[in-house]
Amino acid sequence: MERTLILFKPDCVQRRLVGRILARFEDKGLNVVAMKMMRITPALAKQHYAEHVEKAWYPTLEGFITGGPVVAAILEGLEAIRVVREMLGATSGLKAAAGTIRGDFSSSRQMNLVHASDGPEAAAREIKLYFRDDEICASELTLRPWLRASDEN
Ligand code: CDP
Ligand code: MG
Repeated sequence: MERTLILFKPDCVQRRLVGRILARFEDKGLNVVAMKMMRITPALAKQHYAEHVEKAWYPTLEGFITGGPVVAAILEGLEAIRVVREMLGATSGLKAAAGTIRGDFSSSRQMNLVHASDGPEAAAREIKLYFRDDEICASELTLRPWLRASDEN
């Protein structure tokens, strides 16, 4: 089982799309094991987007991501990191394939609604940035035997 960090970005909250997009992840069979609404500070934005801080477009990204509340969550499931990234689609909503979250709901390169960790190291780092251990509520869901075979881990 893998865990990945997702953020419903400020555009997603403002457009009242959190429920519909969360439903896609639930429909897929991913477990929500932590979730909270919060405001990202400039300091947290710089840690989260450390790889982009030097880019010319970083200041507008920071303004966007700190510009309203977000909902942070941890999703858990088999190959969850890759599965969730594929559900998001390409970074720009204009390039993302139809049927993906960004492809269906976004027409922007920046306002693309949802962040998701892009690999195991990023997932571990980002989960620690947003959640304390005691905020993670792991539990075996009773539906589990009807989502996949018992030998699929
Ligand atoms: O989110 P993803 O990993 O797909 O994209 P990224 O290349 O790691 O960029 C992180 C975020 O920065 C994107 O999701 C966009 O919101 C934003 N971005 C931007 O504002 N302008 C760009 N030219 C590229 C990305
Ligand atoms: Mg990225």
